[in-house]
Amino acid sequence: LAPQDLTGVCAVVSAGGTREPLDPVRFLGNRSSGRQGLAVADELAARGADVTIVAAHVEVPLGAHRVVPVGTAAELEVAVRHEAKTADVVVMAAAVADYRPAHAADAKIKKSGDAGLTLELVQNPDILAGLVADRRPGQVVVGFAAETGEGDDVVGTVLQHGRTKARRKGADLLAVNPVGVDLGFGDVPNSVVVLDGEGTEVGRGGGTKREVARILVDLVSDRLDRSSLH
Ligand code: C5P
Repeated sequence: LAPQDLTGVCAVVSAGGTREPLDPVRFLGNRSSGRQGLAVADELAARGADVTIVAAHVEVPLGAHRVVPVGTAAELEVAVRHEAKTADVVVMAAAVADYRPAHAADAKIKKSGDAGLTLELVQNPDILAGLVADRRPGQVVVGFAAETGEGDDVVGTVLQHGRTKARRKGADLLAVNPVGVDLGFGDVPNSVVVLDGEGTEVGRGGGTKREVARILVDLVSDRLDRSSLH
């Protein structure tokens, strides 16, 4: 039986990939399956937390969790912000689109002759950075950073990107994981290096997504101030 160290803790976990509509039938999406977010939600719930998943597009059933479904990054932001008002822990495991089409067409975009098509994209806000800026006293905010490495030292460059991101976003914990075509996405093992808001390594490990979730939830549990639980 899992330890019940999170009894009385209220948590919100975002999971899956956002979809940004181009027209009524098309969208810009990503390869997130929602499995890592679900694993975090499962681990939190198994240890006694009261969990809500804000779910963008996911490939897995979300089981017995309370779920708030969303589509776009903008919808995800509204839902997570709302849930975060009463949460002790916020985990942003969703893959949020950095850009969305500037205009979603009302009707299906038609092919016109042989010409190509240029899409105009605008930036989405960084939801995690906003959550960090507005966090309640004692609230623990966690992010993920999927990074691709370069050159001979793939892991080193992944960590370098991760450290920069940790400092920029300022989340209490940032789980950095290397991704590639056969790495990180879908029903595959995962590995993470966990950084704090200064970019200092506070944990690492790998294995199944549930094992990664356990590493992260242990670190969350260490950081919770039990006297200020919602
Ligand atoms: O910058 P990057 O997308 O790698 O950051 C990943 C982290 O930031 C994840 O926790 C993701 O949920 C979050 N994110 C966000 N808003 C965005 C993009 C990413 O909250 N627009």
